[in-house]
Amino acid sequence: MLDRLNHIAIAVPDLQTATRQYTETLGATVSEPIEIAEQGVTVVFIELPNTKIELLEPLGENSPISGFLEKNPSGGIHHICYEVADILKARDKLQADGVRILGDGEPKIGAHGKPVLFLHPKDFQGTLIELEEV
Ligand code: CO
Repeated sequence: MLDRLNHIAIAVPDLQTATRQYTETLGATVSEPIEIAEQGVTVVFIELPNTKIELLEPLGENSPISGFLEKNPSGGIHHICYEVADILKARDKLQADGVRILGDGEPKIGAHGKPVLFLHPKDFQGTLIELEEV
């Protein structure tokens, strides 16, 4: 089912500080910030030769990453995203195996304009997993 690692997302309390650190300390190329209001995050993308890193900062009052940052005030790895060829087939197989899909179980359009789903972290070793159809 799993294909390439698409990205690792890191929640950060201050996107500007994190961007500066990745740029100046690590020498990475970091995109301009993109506000994704419907997901409650501002994101920057860091392209690496073999994958991407996304830095997420809460946007608005009810950001889904606010609670995570309350528990992890200095930030932390929030989720990892694997590519799948057929997201509905993947979902049906996972649900049949008892994995909980977050939300209503229907794929949403993610930060890259492709259908995504999130799997319950309690069903996967405490790791929030995003699946993206590529
Ligand atoms: Co993601």
